[in-house]
Amino acid sequence: MNANFAAFLYLVSGVLFIMALRGLSHPATSRKGNTYGMVGMGIAIVTTLLLAKPTFGGFLLIVLGLAIGGGAGAVIARRIAMTSMPQLVAAFHSLVGLAAVMVAAAAMYAPESFGIGTVGDIHAQALVEMSLGVAIGAITFTGSIIAFLKLDGRMSGKPILLTGRHFVNAGLAIALVVLVIMLVFTQSTTVFWLIVLLSLALGVLIIVPIGGADMPVVVSMLNSYSGWAAAGIGFTLGNLALIITGALVGSSGAILSYIMCKGMNRSFISVILGGFGGETATAAVDDGVQRTVKQGAADDAAFLMANASKVIIVPGYGMAVAQAQHALRELGDQLKAAGVDVKYAIHPVAGRMPGHMNVLLAEANVPYDEVFELEDINSEFAQADVAYVIGANDVTNPAARDDPSSPIYGMPILDVDKAKTCLFVKRSLGSGYAGIDNTLFYKDGTMMLLGDAKKVTEDIVKALHA
Ligand code: TAP
Repeated sequence: MNANFAAFLYLVSGVLFIMALRGLSHPATSRKGNTYGMVGMGIAIVTTLLLAKPTFGGFLLIVLGLAIGGGAGAVIARRIAMTSMPQLVAAFHSLVGLAAVMVAAAAMYAPESFGIGTVGDIHAQALVEMSLGVAIGAITFTGSIIAFLKLDGRMSGKPILLTGRHFVNAGLAIALVVLVIMLVFTQSTTVFWLIVLLSLALGVLIIVPIGGADMPVVVSMLNSYSGWAAAGIGFTLGNLALIITGALVGSSGAILSYIMCKGMNRSFISVILGGFGGETATAAVDDGVQRTVKQGAADDAAFLMANASKVIIVPGYGMAVAQAQHALRELGDQLKAAGVDVKYAIHPVAGRMPGHMNVLLAEANVPYDEVFELEDINSEFAQADVAYVIGANDVTNPAARDDPSSPIYGMPILDVDKAKTCLFVKRSLGSGYAGIDNTLFYKDGTMMLLGDAKKVTEDIVKALHA
């Protein structure tokens, strides 16, 4: 295939990837966005194959790789529960990092096949690109594995704070830079593997001190790293599509990390330095003051909602666990049929990944125009008769607004306490992901509906029918 035509096709696939990102920014267009991405990737793969003109054996190997990788990906994606999506993404990122290391190793041992020189005489520019790709790739590989283990509960979510870790990490980072310079001058494979080893260790050391609550930010940050690693390798391979895609993944991952940090009022630096979150949850506020909790049943909730003129529904992680979105849609439909104004309020970090709640509500066919972001709906709680908080906790915790000593102080929250009545659906008085007690449970205007989110919502729907 003509190189210019190949470059044109890579450009087309790059444009399709940008259209995919644009489409994925809204649930209504996300299917279309996915299709653009798939077509773009198809064009990029076919172009690369036509350009590389592999031997028959090589071609068979590629098809075998596609079948094994594609088959495994399809089975895993079908089986995975929505609640386990963050750890799946982390596991997949580790493979991107590993692929970057493998490609760099192949280029180191067979530079002729990559057009970057010969063994012992590799172009300096290619060596810099390769060492950057391999270092970022190896950090992404082990870092993502630690993130997966923490998110999947196979490793404690508690931050592991080793003394002097910042000095050790800084020392390793300096050693890494020295090794990269040595590689450029010596082209030694031993130095290459030392870079790999050091980067693998850095990946573990950077991620281990980061607590469970910050892990989704870390996954998105590693996503960004894997993109830059791919872009670095794209330069080595002279593959335009890989450079474009890597840069898109790198920058979108960085923007996502920034949005999440903003949603949690955490600085990116403090996330990277680690320490926040973990398993510090206690069952209830324990400061010696006797508190009472007003508990209600489905009938009480149905009565309050049926007599309301405005109800704002606030879904959180518990809705995802209970898979209560369909029951919730039914409840919304019932209330609307009875003339109640129903809206859904989504916090930017509700659930465990960006857009978690939007995806579930879209799956249950909740109309998009009833779903609002925090900044667009927060002022409306003061006019709402009922805030129906279903499986959300941290994102409603007034401590984030009122208590400067709280670890989540400064995180924007949904002002559900400003509604006339706040109905709280959860199974216990336990805390949420950040492990922080919620004083809202004990407020006069709050009624706790203790139970599984789906069961409680279905019971309210039944009570409304009665
Ligand atoms: P959380 O604060 O984690 O609270 C979820 C609540 O759901 C829990 O308190 C739990 O209480 C309840 N729950 C669990 N299973 C349930 C079930 N089957 N039925 C009813 N309730 C159930 O959730 P949130 O308010 O959505 O906040 C999200 C948290 O994750 C924040 O701390 C946020 O910073 C963090 N985080 C999110 C993201 C993204 S991007 N979304 C990224 C990083 C961090 P019980 O055990 O008593 O039922």
